[in-house]
Amino acid sequence: MAVQAAALAEADPADPAATDDTAAEPAGGPARLRSRLLRSPLTLIGLAVVLIFVVLAVVAPWISPYDPSTVSDDTLVGPNTAHWLGTTQNGQDVLSQMLYGARASMLVGLGAAVLATFLSVVVGVTAGYVGGLGDEVLSLLANVFLVLPSVPLTIILAAYLPHSGSLGIILVITLTGWAWGARVLRAQTLSLRKRDFVEAARATGDKTWRIILKDILPNQLAVIAASFLGTVNFAILTQATLAFLGLADVTQWSWGTILYWAQTGSALLTGAWWWFVPAGLAIALLGTALSLVNFGIDEFINPRLRQAGIGTKKAQRGQVAAKRARRIRNHAPAERRTEVTPFTPDSTDVVLDVRDLRVEYVGDGGERTPAVSDVSFTLRRGEVLGIAGESGSGKSTLAYAITRLHKPPAEITQGQIVYTKPDGDTVDVLAMGDAELRGFRWEELSIVFQSAMHALNPIMRIGEQIEDVIVAHRPRMTRQERAARVVELLGIVGIPADRSGSYPHELSGGMRQRAMIAIGLALDPEIIVMDEPTTALDVVIQRQIIEKIMELKDRLGFSVVFITHDLSLLIELSDTIAVMYGGRIVETAAADDFYRRPQHPYSRGLLASFPTLGGPKRELTGIVGSPPDLRRLPSGCAFQPRCPLAFDACGSHVPPLLRITGPDGATSHAACLLHADGARNQDRLVTGEMR
Ligand SMILES: Nc1ncnc2c1ncn2[C@@H]1O[C@H](COP(=O)(O)OP(=O)(O)OP(=O)(O)O)[C@@H](O)[C@H]1O
Ligand code: SF4
Ligand SMILES: [Mg+2]
Repeated sequence: MAVQAAALAEADPADPAATDDTAAEPAGGPARLRSRLLRSPLTLIGLAVVLIFVVLAVVAPWISPYDPSTVSDDTLVGPNTAHWLGTTQNGQDVLSQMLYGARASMLVGLGAAVLATFLSVVVGVTAGYVGGLGDEVLSLLANVFLVLPSVPLTIILAAYLPHSGSLGIILVITLTGWAWGARVLRAQTLSLRKRDFVEAARATGDKTWRIILKDILPNQLAVIAASFLGTVNFAILTQATLAFLGLADVTQWSWGTILYWAQTGSALLTGAWWWFVPAGLAIALLGTALSLVNFGIDEFINPRLRQAGIGTKKAQRGQVAAKRARRIRNHAPAERRTEVTPFTPDSTDVVLDVRDLRVEYVGDGGERTPAVSDVSFTLRRGEVLGIAGESGSGKSTLAYAITRLHKPPAEITQGQIVYTKPDGDTVDVLAMGDAELRGFRWEELSIVFQSAMHALNPIMRIGEQIEDVIVAHRPRMTRQERAARVVELLGIVGIPADRSGSYPHELSGGMRQRAMIAIGLALDPEIIVMDEPTTALDVVIQRQIIEKIMELKDRLGFSVVFITHDLSLLIELSDTIAVMYGGRIVETAAADDFYRRPQHPYSRGLLASFPTLGGPKRELTGIVGSPPDLRRLPSGCAFQPRCPLAFDACGSHVPPLLRITGPDGATSHAACLLHADGARNQDRLVTGEMR
């Protein structure tokens, strides 16, 4: 049971095959959802059996034909009309003992399962979520209980608590039974806390307890349910075994004590099968029924296992958000002369200013890998800054660093990130405390993660996930206001409002990505960082999403940092391009200038590697070699081993980012010694002369 449940919790939360933006309309309604639990005949049978046992246990005192302990002269008679299940050696009614016995057996099962599950959830989830020392201490505790031999321990503890009745047995079973569930839940939590949708919830500023309650626990319900039902079974069996061995209070009727008295009365030898068979059958039947219910719970909890879609009432379409007026100042005209000077970021209408940023990954042995080195750029209001570069060039590390979502082993070791508020006040992002950071993220800067398939919680409806961000940041908003905002946001990104009740797997890939964008827009941020938001989508859907982003940007006026491998796409949508190589920005330029006159040999190579969406056909030549290993960067220019224009100085000098003003006055920046080395080398760049 646990294995099956674990597989569920590990299941990919979304279906990568779905890239069509026209997924079928969901069918059904809430009533249908409720009835779905009852759809499987096996689950129905299991539920019915459990229910019958529960009802019989509850009403036992009223429906029992006799007092279970009353002796009579009808000794050891088989089933008859006066005693439907026969009598014992002392003439006691077996049916009455069975009914009373159900109370004790089920009470022990339920009590032990509640306590053991509670303990395992608290210890397992806490250990997995907090990590570090807390995890070590709690894991040690669970491990100690796991290695204790549970059967002998149970027998010894029960032997010392013979008169404590059901409570004693419950405590003994809880003590010996919680650790396994805690181990499983810890492992599940460790895996879940690294999942993108939990990272996304953390990024949106959700508090830890809300993340645990809304993202971690619901995704483990199948495991918890399996653990709970398994413990009920285990406890009933253990109680029966202890009673059978005479280690429980044998004067209290339970199915175990019936078996104990049947054994001491030699029921097997005398052929009095009616004395022990009903108790054995009841234990087996209840165990089987609980297993059947467990399968049904799996299907009920995991929306992906429900075959049909789940519908909601048609929600009202909201009005599109009011236009936010922002004036985007034009850049100051550049001087019309060729000029090469050290890089100084422009400062007009800057919303984000990143200076000399350095991010390192610290290895287990303390070795440091510089994934982002000396990165400086400015982002202006309403601007789209496109960041390009091969895999491993540090794009995502940079994105996570500027949102301060980087986690160990990543460390920001140098630099400054200054955010300018709409009212002109500036704040140092790297100096922000936790509370300030929670307000900054999503209110001022949001992030659309690389893959919507993983960044959405698989068991929460889309509308709830959008609302979650609003709840975390706008606690005073009423439920109605939040619902209206969700409808409004869905409308903004072009998702029909009635899809608010759909689960992520019921949406196409394009819709999921739009839902992520809606979450990013929920609080009207000034900046949206998009890390490869369309990589997993086909080109048609990719285009739709890009057009939507551009339309929204023009309408709402936010700035975008857009990261992708797709250079031709980037040139189309960006105002400015920044190219990264080996953790450094090696060129920044206006998108047009970059396309027409790339100033860095690597940029030229990149451009020669991609077909453009328009314009004349040209041969794709690409770049020879592979990106550098950041742990062992070549000396001098990192691109030198692959650069067709490298010359002697390239192996010994790290080129600084230099400002270049072209003959038409356009300015760009490139980190290439060809620009620092006078006219001769610049000519080589122009002619593309090989070394
Ligand atoms: N947790 C980590 N520990 C050590 N090194 C890491 C870690 N995460 C990333 N790196 C390294 O940092 C470098 C930059 O990685 P990053 O993910 O930022 O690249 P990227 O440009 O986003 O690549 P991609 O285009 O494939 O997404 C890579 O060399 C990578 O191996
Ligand atoms: S500095 Fe040298 S190796 Fe680096 S890109 Fe320029 S020419 Fe090539
Ligand atoms: Mg990346």
